[in-house]
Formats: sequence, structure tokens, C-alpha cells
Amino acid sequence: MPRRDAAPVGEYLRLDIPLDTPLTGPEKGLVDAVEGHARNNGFYFETGDNDLSFFLHALDPAEFEGAVRALLRERGESGGATPRMHGVFTELLGKIDSVRSYGIRGGRRIYATYNRERKVRGRKEKEAARGPWFYALDHGFTPENNPLPGEFRDRVIRGDSEAVLRALPPQCVDIVITSPPYNFGLGYDTTEDGVDWERYFSKLFAVFDECIRVLKFGGRIIVNVQPLFSDSIPSHHIISHYFMEKRLIWKGEILWEKNNYNCKYTAWGSWKSPSNPYLKYTWEFLEVFSKGNQKKEGSREKVDITAEEFKKWVVAKWSIAPEKRMKEYDHPAMFPEELVMRALKLFSYEGDVVLDPFNGTGTTCVAAKKLNRGYLGIDISEKYCETAKRRLKEIL
Ligand SMILES: C[S@@+](CC[C@H](N)C(=O)[O-])C[C@H]1O[C@@H](n2cnc3c(N)ncnc32)[C@H](O)[C@@H]1O
Repeated sequence: MPRRDAAPVGEYLRLDIPLDTPLTGPEKGLVDAVEGHARNNGFYFETGDNDLSFFLHALDPAEFEGAVRALLRERGESGGATPRMHGVFTELLGKIDSVRSYGIRGGRRIYATYNRERKVRGRKEKEAARGPWFYALDHGFTPENNPLPGEFRDRVIRGDSEAVLRALPPQCVDIVITSPPYNFGLGYDTTEDGVDWERYFSKLFAVFDECIRVLKFGGRIIVNVQPLFSDSIPSHHIISHYFMEKRLIWKGEILWEKNNYNCKYTAWGSWKSPSNPYLKYTWEFLEVFSKGNQKKEGSREKVDITAEEFKKWVVAKWSIAPEKRMKEYDHPAMFPEELVMRALKLFSYEGDVVLDPFNGTGTTCVAAKKLNRGYLGIDISEKYCETAKRRLKEIL
């Protein structure tokens, strides 16, 4: 019976590497050494005449790869590390890397039986019966997209985004990544930050309406936002609710862990008392929505995220230090390039067009340029636009 490439066998996942001829004695010795080296890991080998089978339960893949490479080096050809065994282990490492589904326990990946504890039986059928995103089913968006007109491509434009974006045709940008002013009372160059909340949200939503209009079918909008706890304003929920009302599909929420313990809020008299404790947050949120479809069309050659990045970044808690150059760029609320880079690689393809309607010092445009995406950045401050242009020029 033909074997499947990666088949579950009880507690183990079986990976087969075909062989032209049986392993020699020294080659078997090498396989035993690999098995013996990592006894704590949950795997074993079986050798047949025509293949080497690897039975995999649990593994720390980085540690395993290190051990294999070290043994191949140390043992040399006479110790079984023949050219074909280099090939066999390279193939095996590739196969392990391409196993897409595993659980993680105690730092190791569990490749088989990890969802034994799953409580929901018949999950797929139940999902189908419930149906997805009921709130956006009648979205009415059509799949016809437009190119971004040349005069807006790779540009930083000074102006009010609501007005600037009106000049764009509908559905012409692939992804919006932005961080609006949070209305905390920061000292921006032009923006009055700290107006009454109704005025704040009404302006913000007017800009977002334009963003939704210019976003392509299948495009994504990602908003970095922090709630204002002292005013009991959950901005991240209010914004998400607005997008859902506008029939965008909630793709998820990324928790940006800044590890910033400089949280000053404590209500007077609330120390060690249930009277009015303030919850402290060292993180912000990235709210991710898509328009019309969860799936974004694009060609495989335009994917630039690596397997390791993908595996790490789909875990929606990103630990990234806050931007350190705010003094240098004279802007009070920049986000770090790394945050945008991850979002771009995870949610867009090379060659896509990125819009930031609250562009500030142009961090989004800088990341887009470095990652071979087109960009359009808009900010109301001339000074910030000049800084953004300078940063973009510095990229070779
Ligand atoms: C939080 S900052 C964005 C900072 C940016 N992410 C960076 O890394 O430099 C928000 C920006 O929105 C700009 N802004 C506020 N209202 C605007 C509007 N109506 N149109 C365009 N830009 C606006 C402000 O000047 C400010 O630079």
C-alpha cells in the first residue's frame, strides 16, 4: 500500500524519506546517533530497504536541527555522514518544517495527539451551521478594483486625509496601516489632541469612511490604537464596532506588547483598595479588518514572509519595543518600523499599495518602501511630512 508523505500513526506522525539502496552500517550508526542524541525528544527512526521512516511525536525543531548539523559535521564521511545522508537529513528537516499543524507545550512542538483534549466534536459542521461574520453578510462591496492613479503612488501628501482621499477612485489601495491620534492630549505640531470625544470620533470616522471606500475588495485595514482608561473610553472597541457597522469583517486583534512599565495612572485613594483600582496596560492593540472577503488574492511569488516569521507572527501577541527616536524626529507618537514590517509581510504581498492616512513621520511608508510595496502617506502637518520625505530619501 502506498504510504502518505506525512501520516499519523497512533501517537506519532510518520515522515518517510525514500532511499535507492539500504543504509550502510556507518550510515545506520549516524541515524542511531541522531536518535540517541536527543533522547528527551519524542521521536524515533525505522530503517527499511527502500526508505528511512521518522516517527515524530514532539520536538524542539531548532534544537533538533542544531544536533543533526553538529553530528553530520563531527562524524564525517567515515562515520556515516556521507553526501547522501546530508541530503536525507536536509530533506527530513524540510519535511518537519513544512508540518503546518502542531500544538506547543513546554517550548516543544507536539505533532500528534495535541488536539486530543479538544472539547468540540464535529467542529467543521458546527462552524458551517453557525455561518461566519453574520454582521457583514450584506456588505454590498463589489469585487471590481482600480489601480491607484500614478500621481498618488509613492507619495507623501500634506493635507487633511478626509479631503485628500476624496480625490482617489474607489477600491485602489490594498492595505491601510495607521495609528490615529488617540486624543490623549499630546503635543502634536498641528492636531488638537484632546477634544471632546464626540468631535474626535466624528472626525476619525469621516477619515475611516474614505479609507473604507478606497480600500480594495479583499483589502485589509489595520488600526493601531490604545484605549484611554482614565476617561473610560475603550477606543479599540468603539473603532472595531464602527468597522463592523460598516460591514467590514473582523480578522482579528493583535496585542502589541511594549513591555513599557511606565504606566502612571493610579486613582487617588485607590491604593490597595477595591474602591477604584486602575488597570494598567503595557500593550496596545492592532485591530485588523478585511473588506468583502477574508482571503486576499495575490501571487505566490509575491509572498515575502518566511516560514519561521509566519509561525511566530500568527500568534497574535507581538513583543516589540516602542520607537526610541521620537525626540530625534520631533514627533510625540511614532510606532516602530518592526510593527509595520510584520503587519505588511503577514497581510500583504510585494507590490501592493499601502495607505497611511495619519502618516506622521512616515514609518508606514518607510517600511513599505523597504519591503517593495507602493505607498501613500497623508499627514496634516507640513513638518511631519518633511520628516517623512527625508526618511524615505535616506533609504537606498
Ligand atoms: C499617532 S500619529 C502617527 C505617527 C506615525 N505612525 C509615525 O510613526 O510617525 C497621528 C498623526 O495624524 C496626523 N493627523 C491628525 N489629523 C489628521 C488628519 N485629519 N489628516 C491627516 N493627518 C492627520 C497628526 O499630525 C499625527 O502626525
